[in-house]
Amino acid sequence: MNVLNQPSDFSVLVLHGPNLNLLGKREPGIYGSLTLLEINQQIEAAAQALQARVHAVQSNHEGVLVDAIHDAPEQYQGIIINAGAYTHTSVALRDAISGVNLPTVEVHLSNIYRREDFRHHSFIAPVAIGQISGFGAQSYILGLQALVNHLKQSSSANALTR
Ligand code: DQA
Repeated sequence: MNVLNQPSDFSVLVLHGPNLNLLGKREPGIYGSLTLLEINQQIEAAAQALQARVHAVQSNHEGVLVDAIHDAPEQYQGIIINAGAYTHTSVALRDAISGVNLPTVEVHLSNIYRREDFRHHSFIAPVAIGQISGFGAQSYILGLQALVNHLKQSSSANALTR
């Protein structure tokens, strides 16, 4: 607890969607050569520097991701999500995020707006507090920084109105 009597650290759920388990060997010209394990290690290091905790989950199954979002409010104050191809197809993921009402940042390794037209639409974007796209693994770090900053600001604002 700090002087404002608010927690100084936050727990964040990092969700990786389908095919992201193949990172490192999957289209490295688009997604880079880092494996998902290496990306998670970078996110972990960034979280420590921000005094935040992260827990990463990858699934190729839409329902598993929906369940993880439903359970998130019990343990986490925010979500970072790279929904992979489900970004462009999944009303279920969008409804899960809006249903739990946890601040969520959408991230993508590639710049989805420089790619095929079908990647230009995101079902997640309207229910996210923001989106970061195109910076490789750094997209997750930037997303985490933005989310923690958002959580700190909300928590200070709440403390002042109490
Ligand atoms: C992705 C972009 C999506 O269009 C694609 O289906 C992915 C990865 C990205 O991180 O750049 O699987 O979300």
